[in-house]
Amino acid sequence: MEIHVLPDAEAAAKAVAAHIAARVVAGEAHVLGLATGRSPIRIYADLVARVQAGSLSLAGVKSFNLDEYLGLGAADTTSFRSYMEQHLFSRVALAEAHVPDGLARDPQAEALAYERAIAAAGGIDLQLLGIGQNGHIGFNEPGSDLASRTRVVKLTASTLAANAPDFGPGQSVPPEALTMGIGTIMEAREIVLIATGAAKAAALVAALKGPVSPDCPASALQGHAAVHVFADPAAAARLG
Ligand code: F6R
Repeated sequence: MEIHVLPDAEAAAKAVAAHIAARVVAGEAHVLGLATGRSPIRIYADLVARVQAGSLSLAGVKSFNLDEYLGLGAADTTSFRSYMEQHLFSRVALAEAHVPDGLARDPQAEALAYERAIAAAGGIDLQLLGIGQNGHIGFNEPGSDLASRTRVVKLTASTLAANAPDFGPGQSVPPEALTMGIGTIMEAREIVLIATGAAKAAALVAALKGPVSPDCPASALQGHAAVHVFADPAAAARLG
């Protein structure tokens, strides 16, 4: 595991974008696993700028997002599909851009189909992750089986509270989601995790230095051979 501590959140995001761009340009990342949330916004902005400047093309890249709220789709501004359209998909060309279908009539079947689509693409070369304050990766909340696959999950109170600001007054965060499993994430050939801000410090030290346990889903990453963590000093404060 390589831990890179950058001077601030913007530098961390730029370093992640540079890392992803280098892999794509080298022909080492044809299939990207992507994340939503606040942390990746600057990463996608930097990747878009590189494409517009002509130093990067994502036209040959297939992407698979980690997760989607159950019950939300492209027409909902708070869906992860809408987030991805806004920050990346509408701005640069990708060969394929997959997000689990939160409106699927049979979410279990959608989960299986998502696993099959990842496998058909040849597996994920590079998976981008954020980390929840409770140690979640994707929407794999504490207690998730470390071998879990793409499935329907219930969100914890901590995650519902953390994501509430993305929803307007009177709107509630959907209580369930479709997420890649921890086992699915661990099959990515390389993992890049971004963590910024003091609110992530406890989760990051538990993930990287604590016991490998479903209590902290991100601790599973200790068992992966190629993990790069990019953090700002506030998130890295307890790493020692
Ligand atoms: C997003 C996802 C989540 C976030 C995590 C951190 O697709 O699966 O695990 O990566 O909640 O979110 P931010 O970046 O908003 O702190």
